[in-house]
Amino acid sequence: MNFVEEKILKEARVEDGAVLKVDSFLNHQIDVDFLNQIGKRFKELFEGEKIDKIVTIEASGIAIACICAQYFNVPVVFAKKTESKNLDKETYKSQVYSYTKAKHYNIMISKRYLSEGESILFVDDFLANGMAAVAIKDIIDQAGAKLAGVGIVIEKGFQEGGDELRAKGINLKSLAIIDKMDKDCISFR
Ligand code: G4P
Ligand code: NA
Ligand code: NA
Repeated sequence: MNFVEEKILKEARVEDGAVLKVDSFLNHQIDVDFLNQIGKRFKELFEGEKIDKIVTIEASGIAIACICAQYFNVPVVFAKKTESKNLDKETYKSQVYSYTKAKHYNIMISKRYLSEGESILFVDDFLANGMAAVAIKDIIDQAGAKLAGVGIVIEKGFQEGGDELRAKGINLKSLAIIDKMDKDCISFR
């Protein structure tokens, strides 16, 4: 068992059958030592890939991306989910469908912060249906940049996102893949 699987068994809770609560270390309180282990692990897993920038999506991805960036020595850009006066007018935009929330929303990155030819590592806390990752890939394509890899802390392997991304040839590394979970038991691939 790796350190992410151990952490999940020790601290996560399964709610309503399909939601894994990780509020004690990832989604509310944040365990910075744990995030440092994640940063080191992604650095090893993507060794040999040219990474110019780490991209994530607000909100939970930001802390993970920032710690990872210290190991890669690159900037972080996070996609925004809401339009605001502060966001540049010129943005790359893509639509995400959230199954959990049963609604569509846009994610946006200013054209200033993604450039043609850049090699991007996308990191996030969860991968479920993979719609967020597909939208990030779309934005990276619009910019003429390249998606060099996707680093996910927890993949819900019983949902289709991960396998679909792998089938598209995307270099996806998930630190823990949950194949089955219920209130009493979590099993990993
Ligand atoms: P998808 O992007 O893979 O298609 O996922 P989905 O729409 O189902 O997920 C919606 C939100 O819920 C995402 O966060 C995702 O990271 C998160 N999520 C999905 N499954 C779980 C789970 O089992 N446990 C927890 N804790 N989160 C889950 P978000 O709302 O977009 O962003 P954020 O602001 O929380 O980062
Ligand atoms: Na998330
Ligand atoms: Na989340």
